[in-house]
Amino acid sequence: MNAIINDIEVIKTKSSKISEVDFSNLKFGNTFSDHMLVCDYKNGKWQAPKVVPYQPISLDPSAKIFHYGQSVFEGMKAYKDANENVWLFRPLDNFKRLNISSKRLAIPELPENYFMDGLKTLLQVDSNWIPKDEGSSLYIRPFVFASGNGFHASPADEYKFIIATAPSGAYFSGKVRVLIEQKYSRSANGGVGFAKAGGNYAGQFYPTQLAVEKGYQQVIWTDDNTHEYIEEAGAMNIFVRINDTLITGPTSDRILDGITRKSIIQLAESEGIPVEVRKLSVHEVVAAAKDGSLKEMFGAGTAAVISPIAGFGYKDEDYDLPELEDTYAAHLKKRITDIQTNKTDDPFGWRYEV
Ligand code: PLP
Ligand code: COI
Repeated sequence: MNAIINDIEVIKTKSSKISEVDFSNLKFGNTFSDHMLVCDYKNGKWQAPKVVPYQPISLDPSAKIFHYGQSVFEGMKAYKDANENVWLFRPLDNFKRLNISSKRLAIPELPENYFMDGLKTLLQVDSNWIPKDEGSSLYIRPFVFASGNGFHASPADEYKFIIATAPSGAYFSGKVRVLIEQKYSRSANGGVGFAKAGGNYAGQFYPTQLAVEKGYQQVIWTDDNTHEYIEEAGAMNIFVRINDTLITGPTSDRILDGITRKSIIQLAESEGIPVEVRKLSVHEVVAAAKDGSLKEMFGAGTAAVISPIAGFGYKDEDYDLPELEDTYAAHLKKRITDIQTNKTDDPFGWRYEV
């Protein structure tokens, strides 16, 4: 069945999979909704996007994505409130960041209306896939990759922009312990660390596997030059609370400029929580863990939301964080998720109705 919604062609699936999904028991990102947005770049321009049934894509074995890793992505969430209204959180920031990432990987930038109208249309078509239960949401994965062919190591002449969505629960199950990395690096000055490039994640898998074998869930990356400063974790930015002060490292061309991170900084400051954005050394964190002034560590990201860190490993030593009653993590998580899910006012204008 074809339709035009918001000027976008929509081809609906003949057989919805929704009745097969247990919405009360959602994992993260492994069940996919009925439709996806597809938009092709060819003949030097982005063609009109379409909403089509979720389906595999066929590529030539010489497609450059396979050989040269030209791909970037975003992570967003859609929330449904008690009145069935659908909300996004700062979606234009994701759009802008996708284009920042694309530019660094020599991928053609997308027009804003293809991204925003395409996303809105997809969410309207699949609105019954957006979970309502607390802690669940529709995870949205926009991505762009080189679909053009050829073994020449140069940018492709064709690309695909796709948005796929997955009703999802929490990213982490259980307590999160992290390993402060001393050997491998995620990124380097002048590299692609600030971009959400697929290869940044591939490069993390092996060191993270080694950390998982030792009982940690994520690696905390340190600067590639000295390994003395905390940068970010595999899928989230990092905050540390020493006494009453919340500290996070500055963004740079090695670190992803997280939308959750910058929202938390603004929220915390607006509530009078002392916030410092500055270089944070491993030495300072270890010293604070030893003298008891290290009160909290947490990760922040779209998938991770705010994930408290129970402990960290550093140079074969393990450090446990105290179990406090009233944490900044719990408070800020409630504030941000209440804004995201339309349970409270949005003084910053972050919410976006679909
Ligand atoms: N850092 C990395 C490496 C990430 O993959 C993510 C997730 O997107 C973040 C930080 C957090 O960014 P955001 O809050 O925009 O999701
Ligand atoms: C997100 O938080 O949306 C991300 O993209 C992280 C991802 C690696 C799950």
